[in-house]
Amino acid sequence: MIITVASFKGGVGKTTTAIHLAAYFQGLGETLLIDADPNRSALGWASRGELPFGVVDEWQAGQQQRPYVHVVIDTQARPTPDDLSLLMASCDLLVVPTTPDVLALDALTLTVDYLRSFETRYRILLTAIPPKPSRAGAEVRALLKEANLPVFKGGIRRYAAYQKAALLGVPVYGVKDSKAEQAWADYGAIAQEILARQAQGR
Ligand SMILES: Nc1ncnc2c1ncn2[C@@H]1O[C@H](COP(=O)(O)OP(=O)(O)OP(=O)(O)O)[C@@H](O)[C@H]1O
Ligand SMILES: [Mg+2]
Repeated sequence: MIITVASFKGGVGKTTTAIHLAAYFQGLGETLLIDADPNRSALGWASRGELPFGVVDEWQAGQQQRPYVHVVIDTQARPTPDDLSLLMASCDLLVVPTTPDVLALDALTLTVDYLRSFETRYRILLTAIPPKPSRAGAEVRALLKEANLPVFKGGIRRYAAYQKAALLGVPVYGVKDSKAEQAWADYGAIAQEILARQAQGR
């Protein structure tokens, strides 16, 4: 399965999502993460520590000898509509992370009509959801639902453990933090949703 992570706004958790989906899928079969962002954030993450899967740039991707069961592609922010069409055409699912704030929503709204034409080929992932008493996560989810946009049932909560993981160069389960397990479980639930979707042949 090929999963691409893309978003219109920067800093919404694309790389964090790509790393953790790849970590989960590696547990099921050989997985490769392609870092197609010129900032090379995923490669940087890999270079600081140890990840259980391979990370290469888009140039090295074609030279891979090993057959990979899963491929996750991290991309740069603000793709043009043409970029997005290409990304969509070459993957099984486009994951679109969005933080529950007005600026991120504005960026999403701008391209909503564009995304709509792709029906089920993409799904929006709410990331960095603030803890209660904030209702931002629930409110944004309701807005997206109202607009009939496909949203993952699960969401990624805001945990400092993800930043620690990036610094240490490991997936979040490798971090000493009381919330590390919950943070890992959030992405596990999303990976399960992706697998369920694939099993339904969509
Ligand atoms: N669920 C989360 N909880 C707390 N912090 C998070 C979460 N997800 C991401 N972050 C932090 O937010 C920042 C941006 O995340 P990340 O680099 O994954 O976003 P990005 O969309 O890939 O950014 P860019 O557009 O620059 O590539 C990082 O510091 C990251 O550690
Ligand atoms: Mg990134």
